[in-house]
Amino acid sequence: MTDPLAAVHWPVRTDRLSLRRASETDLDVIWAYRRDPSVTHWLSAAPTTIEQHRASFVERGGLAHMILVELDGRVVGDAMIRIEDEWAQAEVADAARGKQAELGWTVDPAYAGHGYATEAVGALVDLSFGPLGLRRVYALCFSGNEPSWRLMERLGMRREQHLVKESLHRSGEWLDAFGYALLAEEWPR
Ligand SMILES: CC(C)(COP(=O)(O)OP(=O)(O)OC[C@H]1O[C@@H](n2cnc3c(N)ncnc32)[C@H](O)[C@@H]1OP(=O)(O)O)[C@@H](O)C(=O)NCCC(=O)NCCS
Repeated sequence: MTDPLAAVHWPVRTDRLSLRRASETDLDVIWAYRRDPSVTHWLSAAPTTIEQHRASFVERGGLAHMILVELDGRVVGDAMIRIEDEWAQAEVADAARGKQAELGWTVDPAYAGHGYATEAVGALVDLSFGPLGLRRVYALCFSGNEPSWRLMERLGMRREQHLVKESLHRSGEWLDAFGYALLAEEWPR
């Protein structure tokens, strides 16, 4: 299986941060903030033990798409960039293969409110439309996850979907979700 993220020269530096690919040895550090209920509230899984946490990344293959965000050598969050095919009619499907990425992000609450997640995700958008040669990036969030959709709006992503009571939260409630996206030609950098 090919590894599209191998096309990037890691680590990637931004004004304040360093981004690198995650490995199994990083999972304990990530657990330290990902176990926080204020973090898991909006995430797709809320493992209750470190073993479940490790298994959720190792067995589901999530590590392959995970990027660690570091500030002065300390992990302050993580992000996801998962490259996938775009929808296409059968005759032109080859031209749509591996042309878009789903993005995701989490910041350690101790480091929230400084723009680190925005800076890191902005760098992933740069990579997407630069060395990775993608055409579109997108992300989904619960409509109530305002910090997350504010981040997307800061980056200039467009709200393209408002899905009504489409997502089942572990609280048992069916919640609205937003879908945001951005095309390469819309990225100003
Ligand atoms: C979503 C999440 C990453 C947003 O965290 P955040 O700290 O608000 O995001 P940033 O690190 O980009 O910081 C932005 C905040 O810092 C402020 N800020 C300070 N300095 C800044 C700078 N140099 N650049 C940009 N923003 C800056 C911004 O004004 C903003 O605060 P505001 O929303 O009160 O205006 C965080 O809430 C989180 O991890 N949530 C749990 C996991 C989650 O929901 N993931 C997404 C699932 S869809």
